[in-house]
Amino acid sequence: MSESSSIDSVLKETRTFAPPAAFTAQANIRSEEQYNTMWQRAKDDPAGFWGDLAREHLHWFRPFDTVLEGEMPETRWFSGGTINASYNCLDRHLETERRNKAAIIWEGEPGDTRVLRYQDLHREVCRFANVLKGLGVEKGDRITLYMPMIPELTIAMLACARIGAVHSIIFGGFSADAVADRNNDAQARIVITADGGWRRGREVPLKAAVDAALEKSPTVEKVVVVRRTGGEVDMVPDRDFWWHELTEGASADCDAVEVDAEHPLFILYTSGSTGKPKGVLHSTAGYLLGTTMTTQWVFDLKEDDTYWCTADIGWITGHSYITYGPLSNGATVVMYEGAPNWPDEGRFWEIVEKYRVSIFYTAPTAIRAFIKWGNQWPEKYDLSSLRLLGTVGEPINPEAWMWYREVIGQERCPIVDTWWQTETGGIMISPLPGITATKPGSCGRPLPGVVPDIVSSDGTSLPANEGGLLVMRQPWPHMLRTLYGDHERFKQVYFSEIPGCYFAGDGARRDEDGYIWVMGRVDDVINVSGHRLSTMEIESALVAHERVAEAAVVGFPHEIKGEGIFCFVTLKDGEGDEALQQELTQHVRDQIGALATPDRVRFAPALPKTRSGKIMRRLLRDIAAGRESVQDTTTLEDLSVLARLRDEEE
Ligand code: WTA
Repeated sequence: MSESSSIDSVLKETRTFAPPAAFTAQANIRSEEQYNTMWQRAKDDPAGFWGDLAREHLHWFRPFDTVLEGEMPETRWFSGGTINASYNCLDRHLETERRNKAAIIWEGEPGDTRVLRYQDLHREVCRFANVLKGLGVEKGDRITLYMPMIPELTIAMLACARIGAVHSIIFGGFSADAVADRNNDAQARIVITADGGWRRGREVPLKAAVDAALEKSPTVEKVVVVRRTGGEVDMVPDRDFWWHELTEGASADCDAVEVDAEHPLFILYTSGSTGKPKGVLHSTAGYLLGTTMTTQWVFDLKEDDTYWCTADIGWITGHSYITYGPLSNGATVVMYEGAPNWPDEGRFWEIVEKYRVSIFYTAPTAIRAFIKWGNQWPEKYDLSSLRLLGTVGEPINPEAWMWYREVIGQERCPIVDTWWQTETGGIMISPLPGITATKPGSCGRPLPGVVPDIVSSDGTSLPANEGGLLVMRQPWPHMLRTLYGDHERFKQVYFSEIPGCYFAGDGARRDEDGYIWVMGRVDDVINVSGHRLSTMEIESALVAHERVAEAAVVGFPHEIKGEGIFCFVTLKDGEGDEALQQELTQHVRDQIGALATPDRVRFAPALPKTRSGKIMRRLLRDIAAGRESVQDTTTLEDLSVLARLRDEEE
């Protein structure tokens, strides 16, 4: 927890933008009364509310007996019901006109394209599910997916779901060591990867990283490799197999297995404030219901939309809003492999024009990059197909929001600023595009089924406009069920801070209209380009270097990335120089991945600590941001340490 319990809010924003009447007229949720009725019912009668939706919007092999049992954190949803996520995303559409509708319109970075209709996707998923069975995969086994953004990634996810295996996707930017850690924590039996993927015209070698990871991941028996780039790879006999060879003769007949509603669908590792990544585990039915409904409500999805979420599937946004939410709704999803600035900074807008994308969902860090690159790029393309814009991942600064509205949305498209987390599974707080008058920088009001509160550190509800801790007072079907292999940690991290509530780790305030303004995380996790990184993990990586005695890592405001990574390092002996700064920067990249590349490395003679030995991060944050520290420093062990650090920074 932070060193102080109240949070000062400095952001004052008064502009509001009512939804265009034409949008409201066609919206899935189109009146304030409709929203109020839904929200109130979900709060007063969650079982009735979610039970009705689950019956109407999901396919069940066996209907559930009860909707909700238990209290947070030990809740069970849809007991007695059996279901399959792959069946819901595929088979049920084949009985309708959607069978020949495009499920995935994919574009590779070099410009190659593929379109998979629902029938095609179903066939490929069935074939690969049979391949997995042939490799000995059984229901409940964990499978690591470490892949580029290619259709095989979606196919592999749905193939796992089809046979009840649990996927654990690792973002392709993570290093071999990070893959090994996650393989070991999940005790993965199989790794699915590719030779490499394309990023800014260069090949990201994934298979080579898997080879290095497997030296330290004893549980992994077999590796399946997609040929994507054609790059050189070493194939280990009897361990490594080519995807195309295994699928060649595989049958396209594979029944989806019935799993219990609470059967785990996937694990996704996310950063926590103590070093070790947390294996967030999601259930099948609750997660699927949440992503299905929120896609309809927030993105106002219609049968003829062309929907593009620019996230990587390696993050929760890609799980929920590229794969499960849209495909469960039978949507057409655009999927792009590469960088937004390859071969030039107009690539995203070229894709919007080419496929006539109507719903576009991206991150504030990307928007800040677009602004920097200049309006000439979006202005070159026809963006008139867009009807709705979304953001996720971190608070969006109002000026970036205004730019998004004016330059990309051409003042026509509502913007949904969606607040949620890996742990929440789906969007929790967001404008509803047909009814919400949006305020730049606010994520609006809670969705039906979401009962948030802003509380002080003793759990008291705070009045409007007072900053505090963002908590959830009621369970929702798509919340995480546990941290894989560590249920105690799950209870401690999310449910011990404020008894009876889920604690999100974010600070926020609620304004007089009930809109939520998220102020960022209150613990030692920093948000780099919309991705949560644990400062502890970066510190551990630094300390693993032979010359480093101690390290403290904090975030600082960064124009494009939101937060940059600032490392304070004390050495065992000797002086630090530029060469060592570079070496340590590279060392962190090797240990964790490019995403965690430090922006600044500062050598310090010692780190400021409290008497109990806790590093005083707030002070370091102030120094990193170049702010004069106004903190109370009387508990500092060595005041001169701080003075020295500050002087050198100026
Ligand atoms: C932050 C991403 C403000 C927040 C889906 C949260 C946001 C963390 C927003 C979760 C938003 C995400 N406004 N902050 N619209 N969306 N965040 O697990 O701090 O990668 O706790 O999930 O990102 O990050 P995660």
